[in-house]
Amino acid sequence: MDWGLKNRLSRIIKLQNNRALMLAVDHGYFLGPTEKLEDPKKVIAPLLRHCDSLMVTRGVQRASVSATSDTPMVLRVSGGSSIIGDDLSQEDITVSIEDAIRLNASALAMSIFVGSKYEYQTIVNLGKLVSEAEKYGIPVLAVTAVGKELGKDARYLSLACRVAAEQGAHIVKTYYCDNFEKVVQSCPVPIIVAGGKKIPERDALQLTYNAIKAGAVGVDMGRNIWQSEHPVPMIKAARAIIHGNLNVDQAFKLYKKLVSEEPKKKQKSQKKKSNNKKKPQNNPNQKKSNNKKKPQNNPNQKKPVLTKK
Ligand code: R5P
Repeated sequence: MDWGLKNRLSRIIKLQNNRALMLAVDHGYFLGPTEKLEDPKKVIAPLLRHCDSLMVTRGVQRASVSATSDTPMVLRVSGGSSIIGDDLSQEDITVSIEDAIRLNASALAMSIFVGSKYEYQTIVNLGKLVSEAEKYGIPVLAVTAVGKELGKDARYLSLACRVAAEQGAHIVKTYYCDNFEKVVQSCPVPIIVAGGKKIPERDALQLTYNAIKAGAVGVDMGRNIWQSEHPVPMIKAARAIIHGNLNVDQAFKLYKKLVSEEPKKKQKSQKKKSNNKKKPQNNPNQKKSNNKKKPQNNPNQKKPVLTKK
């Protein structure tokens, strides 16, 4: 393996324990303003220092991630379809290798849709991307995308992961399932597990723990971190499993402890803010207005958002 490729990979999968915590924030590339990821800059800022790498699109990287960050970027380079379009599996490579290098990508990520209408196109694209990226020592992460019509079982995921590895992917991302050891055992390159839809925090920590026990290097988790009411405690708890070898009970206990400490900080800063605000003065000469209060525009009110099917 070339020095550059090895070096980039070692920043994503830590050499000391062969583990990885990747934070996924690339959902907008087909979902648009996903719930709780409407403002990526706000979401990413407090979480960035707790992950080993960030999975991101070039648009969000440029607009919402500080260029002084030393967190490795796993750059999504595929796209072309949206949740309201005809077929999500119709993806192509949308980012040039030159732009990926300008963005100092530590790895490139793309989806393959094994068993779908566009299987051929996406698998050929993966092979081509690996050939191109290897010229520059950049590893490729293959995402085994799962459509509604495709199974999420060990048989299907083993097939999809193996196909990705055979095309030369350096890391494969897939979903956790029963008999996950089989998926890991039949894939010759490291496997990282997606978090999937938002589930209760303890369950997401259990998934993280199970995935590692079955042989995955870690998680590439998105919604179960930033859709949590407490994203920072959640990422810290997941990290404690991946890098601190905590079990699920210990990690969940840590999560709850961190959550219990959070409101105090918030309350303090809210108190500070309200102390700084000028109190309205009672003016005995001022006539009381009979006008009813006009409804205010609330900028924080949620806009309708699209979520994954
Ligand atoms: C999905 O297409 C994106 O690539 C996400 O990065 C991936 O699904 C992981 O995020 P989550 O943990 O939310 O499933």
